[in-house]
Amino acid sequence: MSMNIGILGAGNVGRILGKGLAKAGHRVLISSREPHDPRHFTWKQEVGESGEITSFSEAALLGEIIIAALPWSCLKNVVESIDPAYFKNKTVIDVSNAVYFENGPRLLLNDTSAGEIVQEMLPDSHVVKTLNTVSDKIMIHPHFQVGSPIMFISGNNHASKYQVNAILTDLGWSTIVDLGDIRQSRLQESMMLACVISETYLKSPGSAFALLTH
Ligand SMILES: NC(=O)c1ccc[n+]([C@@H]2O[C@H](COP(=O)([O-])OP(=O)(O)OC[C@H]3O[C@@H](n4cnc5c(N)ncnc54)[C@H](OP(=O)(O)O)[C@@H]3O)[C@@H](O)[C@H]2O)c1
Repeated sequence: MSMNIGILGAGNVGRILGKGLAKAGHRVLISSREPHDPRHFTWKQEVGESGEITSFSEAALLGEIIIAALPWSCLKNVVESIDPAYFKNKTVIDVSNAVYFENGPRLLLNDTSAGEIVQEMLPDSHVVKTLNTVSDKIMIHPHFQVGSPIMFISGNNHASKYQVNAILTDLGWSTIVDLGDIRQSRLQESMMLACVISETYLKSPGSAFALLTH
């Protein structure tokens, strides 16, 4: 089913997800502090009529589903700048990672996670954590010579997770595992770190985890 999808952000993740979702038949609004800046023109050309570049507020207002694709350092400020009514009762996909890279990558948060904090910021929305474990290069139509990568979701609302499952399927994900409620985003954020460290160790950027099955 075609939906309006509002993406907070027009960076690496916002652009690639916007493109994938537009190609899958959705109407997509990516967003920026400077929506009219010429740097967005290439993306607009790529997606044509299916995509718009707009303000953060308008992306949230018009999105039936909202994707928060912003650096952790500014996510709270951007969310707080938007009328809470625009988020109410909607599915909000959180792809963020709260991480710092000095002296080896580490998670910034202890005894909580970005997913849980986003859910606390938006108590009237249904936050679903996903896609944070892979690089933007493989967020859409992931293809590997061997095996099928796994994508995890977590969140408190079953209907929202069902919606996100459909979106991930649209983006070419075939192995999707529901880990449970939003507290499980701790696992996903730790897995992201394990993946980044593995990629560095194995000199293999753009990798993803898969589950070996008999
Ligand atoms: N990149 C990846 O491979 C990847 C993979 C998995 C998860 N993630 C997570 O996805 C999220 C987005 O990553 P990204 O790589 O897309 O980030 P990015 O390219 O740095 O995102 C830039 C976006 O954030 C906005 N932004 C930056 N600073 C801002 C500020 N102070 N106030 C308001 N808006 C600001 C920019 O707005 P303007 O357009 O106005 O400049 C732009 O739209 C992060 O939490 C990251 O951890 C990234």
